[in-house]
Amino acid sequence: MEYLINGGQKLYGSVEVECAKNAYLPILAATILCDGDTMLDRLDIIDVENMLAILQVLGVKVRKEKGITIDSGEAKSVLIPTKLTSSLRASILCLGALLGRFHFARITYPGGCDIGLRPINLHIKCMQELGVEIEESHGVLNCDSTKLHGGVVVLDYASVGVTENLILLTVLGKENVTLINVAREPEVVDLCLFLNSCGANIVGAGSSEIRIFPVRKLTGVGYSVMKDRIVAGTFLLAGAITGGEIEVCGLNPNFFTSLIKKLCQTGCFLDVKGDKIRLKSNNALISVGFLETNVYPAFPTDLQPQFLALQTLCRGECLVRENIFEGRFKFVHELIKLGARVVVCGNVAIVTGVDSLMGAEVVAPDLRGGAALVLAGLAARGYTRISQAELILRGYENFEQKLISLGADIKLI
Ligand code: UD1
Repeated sequence: MEYLINGGQKLYGSVEVECAKNAYLPILAATILCDGDTMLDRLDIIDVENMLAILQVLGVKVRKEKGITIDSGEAKSVLIPTKLTSSLRASILCLGALLGRFHFARITYPGGCDIGLRPINLHIKCMQELGVEIEESHGVLNCDSTKLHGGVVVLDYASVGVTENLILLTVLGKENVTLINVAREPEVVDLCLFLNSCGANIVGAGSSEIRIFPVRKLTGVGYSVMKDRIVAGTFLLAGAITGGEIEVCGLNPNFFTSLIKKLCQTGCFLDVKGDKIRLKSNNALISVGFLETNVYPAFPTDLQPQFLALQTLCRGECLVRENIFEGRFKFVHELIKLGARVVVCGNVAIVTGVDSLMGAEVVAPDLRGGAALVLAGLAARGYTRISQAELILRGYENFEQKLISLGADIKLI
């Protein structure tokens, strides 16, 4: 699939943001642990389709209507085909959930966006510390949690996926567990809110220490998954880069502190009221000078490519340091084809602002890098063709339709 963009239109208007992919996927994995039906709003993106395909292999019943209903009553712990596990990184979360419910699971290595090595060593190490026996044979991890015990686990790194997997592993256990140095991302909090509404007893989500007091059973509920802060941030940046005015609503502005601060530094005007964030761009944007990604509440790695795209049209120089994923500058090579001036050295990119970008043919290397190319294409003069658009559809629902409603000239072919 390809996006064809006729750039140069300023984007104006209000955009409704979908459920957060990074909360939805762990919640889907969590439904493996629930008795009865779980009802969620729909989120029609490729990563969700792949996760639902995994659940169906496990015997979970999925009904799609206006919303989606998931019933894990007849689920079984079977080997998930490599084709599915390798289709998305979050497939690894099924490991914690399957062990939590069946005490036995077989799984192959997860895949996902090509943005770095993305090993699962920390998942394995922390699970082993809680008594899970894991052995690898021919690329399959055979895992047994019959000797799962409680205790304190200190994470070497505040990994989002490891935090979520350990919660899923232990929420139906027998002994109390304390997790230290956990991820504080809002999506981790949303997973815990979901589990608690199903009957779990998880305390401390959003801080760096989470305590899990196991319960005997979880019962499915209807749940409103939080809105996607990365999608919302992408739309705000689309407003900024095209010189327009964009409003996103339905989100907690506290999740945007690092982005709002950086956008203000470019000279954009931001107004936050209740759950609405409004951005008005400026005709003479200036570089922020320095940006680095880190774990929440610092600037999110998932918005780094889109923000870097904005910097290409800001006056001055900006040093961007990527601290989470080593392969996250692959899109820069494509951005340069549009006339951007960027030099990459290891995990640092130096962006020198130019007056304008020119449309070109480019390839989306991954989800967020692809979104950054869309933003650049929207701001560039003339036509930009972005191939491998399906990578962008992994994480953005009706992306082009939402952009069209804001005045963009973009087609999905
Ligand atoms: C999640 C998000 C992803 C986001 C990332 C960081 C989902 C579905 N995905 O990914 O969009 O970019 O958080 O905010 O929620 N690491 C190891 N060993 C491990 C696990 C992780 O070395 O066992 C490293 C990773 O390679 C990476 C860093 O830790 O360099 C962060 O990874 P992590 O926080 O686990 O990200 P994900 O959960 O994969």
